[in-house]
Amino acid sequence: MSPQIILYGLLALSLSLSFAADLSPLQDFCIADPQSRVFVNGLACKDPKLAAANDFFFAGLHLAGNTSNRVGSVVTPVTVSQMPGLNTLGISMIRIDYAPWGINPPHTHPRASEILTVLEGCLEVGFVTSNPDNRHITKVLHKGDVFVFPIGLVHYQRNAGSANAVAIAALSSQNPGVVTVANAVFGSVPDIAGDILVKAFQLDNSVINYLQSKF
Ligand SMILES: *[C@@H]1O[C@H](CO)[C@@H](O)[C@H](O)[C@H]1NC(C)=O
Repeated sequence: MSPQIILYGLLALSLSLSFAADLSPLQDFCIADPQSRVFVNGLACKDPKLAAANDFFFAGLHLAGNTSNRVGSVVTPVTVSQMPGLNTLGISMIRIDYAPWGINPPHTHPRASEILTVLEGCLEVGFVTSNPDNRHITKVLHKGDVFVFPIGLVHYQRNAGSANAVAIAALSSQNPGVVTVANAVFGSVPDIAGDILVKAFQLDNSVINYLQSKF
């Protein structure tokens, strides 16, 4: 192999690594300044001399979230919104509580892969690969099991048991974002035109109207 080809190979590799998650920080830290009126990719930094331990701290992830909702699960996030010191670091964390048979409905994180650990209970998890295969990869997890959902892919979890379940997950973005498929498609504001969804989902208008009324 010529030196140029090796060089291009290394360059491509380093680019793909640095774009696999949020960009690398250019300083020790950049604590988000909620007061800033500057729009940057991420959040503007407050004066590093004003950094305090609490900027890098969150309390309460031992507390169970309230799962009394129509899906029977709740996410407690620790992203840059809860922990300003995460700004520019490219990581965040969540706790997920599941009622018996509760689900975390199909969704994607546009900016993050997610590595999930089951702390309590039994979870059925899965993700679907991109077109054209749309392969469904699924597994049943028990306490201590770890599973990764690759960035951007539609994934879900279901508590496959009659006890509460708890998981903790790390995400490769300070601000992973969530797109819940049903809400985005049937609950957008304003609505996506019904006839578009009729064709897209090959369903009757009445079914689309019903689904839109649900979200
Ligand atoms: C949990 O949420 C439900 C529905 O919002 C509410 O009625 C209930 O009081 C909440 N329970 C606790 C312990 O906060």
